[in-house]
Amino acid sequence: MSIIRSVVLGCGSYLPKNCVTNEELAKRVDTTDEWIVQRTGIQQRHIAAEGEFTSHLGLAAAKAAIANAAIDVQSIDLIILATSTPDNTFPASAVSIQHELGIHHGAAFDMQAVCSGFIFAMTTADMYIRSGQFKRVLVIGAETFSRIMDWEDRTTCVLFGDGAGAVILEGQESAGETADRGILTTHLRSDGRHRDKLFVDGGVSSTQTTGHLRMQGREVFKHAVGMVTDVIEDAFKATNTTADDLDWFIPHQANKRIIDASARKLKIPGEKVVTTVQWHGNTSAASIPLAIDHSVQKAMVKKGDLVMLEAMGGGFTWGSVLLRW
Ligand code: UT7
Repeated sequence: MSIIRSVVLGCGSYLPKNCVTNEELAKRVDTTDEWIVQRTGIQQRHIAAEGEFTSHLGLAAAKAAIANAAIDVQSIDLIILATSTPDNTFPASAVSIQHELGIHHGAAFDMQAVCSGFIFAMTTADMYIRSGQFKRVLVIGAETFSRIMDWEDRTTCVLFGDGAGAVILEGQESAGETADRGILTTHLRSDGRHRDKLFVDGGVSSTQTTGHLRMQGREVFKHAVGMVTDVIEDAFKATNTTADDLDWFIPHQANKRIIDASARKLKIPGEKVVTTVQWHGNTSAASIPLAIDHSVQKAMVKKGDLVMLEAMGGGFTWGSVLLRW
């Protein structure tokens, strides 16, 4: 019996030109390169230029993904943009990207699950594709977290960066075996009891301001490894696979210590773990597609590889996507 699978046709990414090293940051903030590297693994981050918005970053990543997939832009019938830093409160930044791409059919919307946004967007795209409602979906993660940083707060402002990544998914007939290409399984979770451990202290309905990111870093850290390993175990169970079957582990890039601890707990060897947090910092919903594009460009991830994506972030939200590249 054949089923529809969401197969990745291509990917792309974009980073703002302005790259700020830890040493440069330490001139403005009471911190050191040593502290940031030891606690997080981060060495630098990219910061969007004045007038450079989330939709601009997302558009550049989308164009790169479309070129990489070698498809006609007009064949895209759905755009999902994962972001917590949209250009405006509304309309969705996804419609700006849709317009700039010259697409005036189908649908486009934003999705907000903070650092898990790309996992939620991939899952949503997969559901629409498998239901037959849309055929070719552009999934983007794009963020300008530099705009919601409190640059006086050294406990958060050293951690985040700006950037964007994108993938093109297409519905293809499949025998539905584990060896067949496409998304094999997705698992999403959220638990609002933790909503004030990582949040922005402003908003349209509450303060009518944008607000700044606030985080109880240690609390987030404490929950992160357990939560992500749970949804990864769920993915293994659903597909009758194990960590040994994985070719690549592409986690959300928040902190190298969280990535290493998760990999250790799952017994995934270091050489299968994609780590880009040292170059990008935490780019929230953009971190996974940025890491995906890096590993494809470096010819690490290849057609047929089994790839585990996972993320955890504000809410808390967390989830996993297991796919055959
Ligand atoms: O993407 C969403 C998910 N987010 C995350 O995964 C983030 C999770 N949390 C973390 O990654 C870590 O908790 C942090 C990197 C944020 C912090 O690392 P930590 O080992 O938990 O440090 P801490 O917050 O316990 O702070 C230790 C010390 C404190 O000083 P005292 O109280 O021990 O004297 C801080 O004031 O480090 C100090 N500190 C800094 N020192 C230099 C905090 N930030 C800095 C800084 N530079 N930037």
